[in-house]
Amino acid sequence: MAKRVLVATEKPFASQAVVEIKRICEEKGYELILNEKYTEQSDLVNAVKNVDALIVRSDKVTSEVIENADDLKIVVRAGAGYDNLDCDAASKKNIVCMNTPGQNSNAVAELAFGMMLYMARGKFNGKSGTELKGKTIGIHAYGNVGLNVARIAKGFDMKVIAFDPYVDKAVMEADGVEPVDSVEKLYNISDYVSVHIPSIPATQKFIDLRLISIMKPGAVIINTARKEVICEDSMIKILSNREDLKYASDIAPARAEEMVNKFGDRVYFTPKKMGAQTLEANINSGVAAINQIIAYFEKGDTTFKVNK
Ligand code: 3PG
Repeated sequence: MAKRVLVATEKPFASQAVVEIKRICEEKGYELILNEKYTEQSDLVNAVKNVDALIVRSDKVTSEVIENADDLKIVVRAGAGYDNLDCDAASKKNIVCMNTPGQNSNAVAELAFGMMLYMARGKFNGKSGTELKGKTIGIHAYGNVGLNVARIAKGFDMKVIAFDPYVDKAVMEADGVEPVDSVEKLYNISDYVSVHIPSIPATQKFIDLRLISIMKPGAVIINTARKEVICEDSMIKILSNREDLKYASDIAPARAEEMVNKFGDRVYFTPKKMGAQTLEANINSGVAAINQIIAYFEKGDTTFKVNK
């Protein structure tokens, strides 16, 4: 019997990405089931019942989803951050979890610049703004998105610095990026800080008073990572005390409305997470996901496995 692959995306892929996933499934003899734009978590819980493989985006693959998935062998998060997968629950049932690193990172990096320009130009309010050229951009975490941000920043003639204790300094230097020794220094000397740390237990509210309060006059934080890595209380406190700082985030913080009311043009939040929302990123990550599933079933390939 053909293996069943469910694509469950509350925020759907571009239709061409789905056409491509479907084509690959048909070619390789897999059955594709689509559950796009679902609105209730119970829809996902019910949809996984009899499938062998699951492709998701930021959809929440909770322990309840896993418990209900009697035939599931592999879940692929089409994207980078897999904080939406309950990997422990999956491991207990010997279900492999994977992500598709790098496939959507250019899209996220481009959005970071869209947000930087938007903030630099006063949200296009007609008044005089500032330029990115000559400014210092501090990249917080030098992974796939971070290195794309560095590449684009050089095109804008920005000075590029980065902090990442897990990346060899020589790697950054080879890209023309100046590594800094501490996260405090990064926040202290950057005009723009671009946040790319993952949301894991150790990074919850990591960007707090100690970092935001030491930012340069007029600095801007651009967060295209996860809202959880920012301490919202600290952010609100500092934006209240320092009228020079700005904050833009791809996905609204929990207290977005309050922040917009209080800080107006100094804050900006996308209505839905937009970083990876491009045709190219959807095709890249969707196709990588289905290919990884096929490689797992046919060759036992676990290259992109993220759980134990
Ligand atoms: C990621 O971690 O890959 C990005 O945040 C993209 O998330 P999305 O697929 O929900 O847009």
